[in-house]
Amino acid sequence: MQVAVITLFPEMFRAISESGITRRAIEQGLIKLIYINPREFTSDKHQTVDDRPYGGGPGMVMRVEPLQGALNAACERLSTCRENVRVIYLSPQGQVLTRTKVESIPQQGSNIVLIAGRYEGIDERFIDANVDEEVSIGDYVLSGGELPAMVLLDALIRKLPGALGDKQSAEQDSFEQGLLDCPHYTRPEEMNGLRVPDVLLSGDHKRIENWRLQQALGRTWERRPDLLSSKQLAADEQALLNAYIAGREAHTD
Ligand code: ADE
Repeated sequence: MQVAVITLFPEMFRAISESGITRRAIEQGLIKLIYINPREFTSDKHQTVDDRPYGGGPGMVMRVEPLQGALNAACERLSTCRENVRVIYLSPQGQVLTRTKVESIPQQGSNIVLIAGRYEGIDERFIDANVDEEVSIGDYVLSGGELPAMVLLDALIRKLPGALGDKQSAEQDSFEQGLLDCPHYTRPEEMNGLRVPDVLLSGDHKRIENWRLQQALGRTWERRPDLLSSKQLAADEQALLNAYIAGREAHTD
């Protein structure tokens, strides 16, 4: 997979390229990441990338020309042509990012351009002519698209085969089975009078697996019932959830 990020602040991306799983994936060559600054594609001495909005109002709008130059350069530097690139603009006007959306992105091609905007947004004509998809990371406004682009990249990268170590698995992530994750514990067995649940010390792998599934079901039922309503539970899952709910009710009586 190759991704070009068009951004006025490439240095922000050190957060993903210099640490953790994302850094390792880049080093392993699972993903090639390049950054292109639209400022390189301005023709005036001040390297102006923004201008006032037609119709008036607050804020500034990113100009088409530097963005167009950056997009052309992105295709060139990825050694591909515009037809083979999927252009995603991070914006609060986009479809909200979900696990399904993350999974759909690599299926649509392996060359991606992410556009991280600044100011009030970018000239709509650039979007109409070039953007295949707008993606939002939630119903709130950030100061720019860089953090959303990093959120999307991190979510994409951890799904790449080989990105996670042997002991980790993307399959165990929250949402992977349409459920939240179960709770996790590490040493010591007792901390401030609080003990690790006995089942996790039992060595009985089947019981542990059942307990984890039950916790995942129970937490999802408590915290995100919307996720459960779009999931068809198998009979054994329903039984585990019923037992969890019964346990909770007994607790609150
Ligand atoms: N740019 C500013 N806010 C954003 C958001 N919530 N999602 C994606 N891009 C953005």
